[in-house]
Amino acid sequence: MDNLVIRKYDNDDFFEVIDLLKDNFNISNNIESIDDNINSFGIVALLNKKIVGYIRIDKLNNPFKNNYYYFLSYVCVDSNYQNVGIATKMLEFIFDMAKDDNVSYIELTSRSSREAANRLYLKNGFVIRDTNVFRKEM
Ligand SMILES: CC(C)(COP(=O)(O)OP(=O)(O)OC[C@H]1O[C@@H](n2cnc3c(N)ncnc32)[C@H](O)[C@@H]1OP(=O)(O)O)[C@@H](O)C(=O)NCCC(=O)NCCS
Repeated sequence: MDNLVIRKYDNDDFFEVIDLLKDNFNISNNIESIDDNINSFGIVALLNKKIVGYIRIDKLNNPFKNNYYYFLSYVCVDSNYQNVGIATKMLEFIFDMAKDDNVSYIELTSRSSREAANRLYLKNGFVIRDTNVFRKEM
């Protein structure tokens, strides 16, 4: 895939990224912009200049371990371009970035029913942690 480019999200990507996210996740209908700053940003995959993949990254600090980690979310690839290695390339881009960014580890959550995603993560060196994810709706 010579024509695959992975780079950070740019405001000009907004409409294409929102369409991709709408196809894959239950997101709000009235998003006007995507917050993008040094600790909370996106990366996109472009194939022939068309956006075909997205991952959100939050860089978080654990003050008691004195380290930083990335939390990934909204991992997705356009259904027309899945299973050809695009998500893997995006993860490799993130791993390289993490090495330059003083990051100790990378974390994410995924339902076990998301089989492709679970395989993708295991293949790329993530291990399942024995913990429950809790949420209290407010
Ligand atoms: C999960 C997802 C991002 C994977 O993207 P992708 O670009 O297709 O992934 P890759 O081509 O890099 O595949 C990497 C590995 O994932 C697994 N995989 C990918 N697609 C798969 C499928 N349809 N079924 C089973 N395993 C699959 C394979 O193990 C594959 O490695 P292999 O081809 O060497 O066996 C994509 O399927 C997607 O967007 N799904 C919908 C949204 C989603 O579930 N996001 C995850 C939220 S936690």
